Amino acid sequence: MRRNIAAGNWKMNLTLKSANELAVSINNLEINDNVDVILGAPSVFLANIVELTKDNKRVNVAAQNCHQAEKGAFTGEISIPMLASIGVNQVIVGHSERREIFNESDQDIKEKVDALLLNNMTPIFCCGEPLMIREASGQNDYVKKQFENSIFHLGENEIQKLIIAYEPIWAIGTGKTASPEQAQDMHAFLRQLISDKYNHDIAENISILYGGSVKPANAKELFSQDDVDGGLVGGASLSLENFGPIIEAF
Ligand code: PGA
Repeated sequence: MRRNIAAGNWKMNLTLKSANELAVSINNLEINDNVDVILGAPSVFLANIVELTKDNKRVNVAAQNCHQAEKGAFTGEISIPMLASIGVNQVIVGHSERREIFNESDQDIKEKVDALLLNNMTPIFCCGEPLMIREASGQNDYVKKQFENSIFHLGENEIQKLIIAYEPIWAIGTGKTASPEQAQDMHAFLRQLISDKYNHDIAENISILYGGSVKPANAKELFSQDDVDGGLVGGASLSLENFGPIIEAF
């Protein structure tokens, strides 16, 4: 079901004490009923954060990555059943940093999406184009390919379980946000793609988040666009001062 979502992606930041403190302070906010907050915490802190927020219906906890295999000889990796066993039921997949720095392919991401759905978990599926593609106005085709390669094999019942995050790579961590019009144009395009592939109702029911230098100063305008249902927020999710106003920006 389409929801307003403020998702934080803490990436590889914070330590146990600061992560717990941040989770507690967000947990103590008065969060409006029409907003879901997601905390994308580093794996070593997930169990703590789940415990700290477990009585709060407005706050969910997500892992930033998972391995697609159920178990096995994959030193250093984290499986979906491991995440499920500590109460995590959402996972960010296909973040551009995973794609670019850790060489994740569309095929890897497809396998992760499938494995998550098989385990009744919610994939937060990230997509988005690099600067060169945007400068050549190729962003729509680029993201369409990402959909075709990693999620458009899903059936009607499955695709509805995804949360989509559009994150133009040139806007991530650069302070350079997509304009509200650029975000709206891409989100409307993606919703139309889903509508053409599946149907109108399914497209209307999927939450599509924008990510890339979301901050208190631009969140309201971005989130007020018709097809922008919230944000996946990196840097500005690391403090209550910044993330609090973003949660309240709907
Ligand atoms: P940023 O990161 O908000 O720091 O640009 C967003 C993201 O990578 O999800």
